[in-house]
Amino acid sequence: METLELEKVKIETPRQIRISPNLGLGEHKRKEIADSLKKVLADSYCLLVMTQNYHWNVRGINFKVIHELTENQYLDIFKAIDDIAERIRTLGEDAPGTMTEFNELTSINLPNKELSDREMIVDLLESNETIVKTLRNALHPASEVNDEATADLVTERLKVHEKVAWMWRGHLEQ
Ligand SMILES: [Fe+2]
Repeated sequence: METLELEKVKIETPRQIRISPNLGLGEHKRKEIADSLKKVLADSYCLLVMTQNYHWNVRGINFKVIHELTENQYLDIFKAIDDIAERIRTLGEDAPGTMTEFNELTSINLPNKELSDREMIVDLLESNETIVKTLRNALHPASEVNDEATADLVTERLKVHEKVAWMWRGHLEQ
């Protein structure tokens, strides 16, 4: 069997060819919508990390409720992330896909595993409310030009995160 020595193999980088999608949205608007979705993707990823972090590290009287609710939530976010990233690609833009890019784009704070169980609930509540605002900002440019596919996806995520925020708020109310 012949063994190839990689440093002797010349690999030419192929010329990159990009084709702009022709979706009736207009170049500027298409990019504006994709940019707003990149923020949604970054927020979703960072919220996934926070939610899973608290699923693992929670201690205290609220252990069971936090451990169980966070599991449902991070599984849901994990599925949604793929749809959001693929919508960005459908709109002709590259999807951010590194933690550095996500950290630059996100409005979600870094999680803190030292928080008490109640403080984790507050953090999850505030972070879900933060992503709701990012989603609302993404809904506007899409709705303006009847980009129903994006608006639909964003509306679905809005419903989820508004409901999650209500659940955490409910835990804090007396
Ligand atoms: Fe688990």
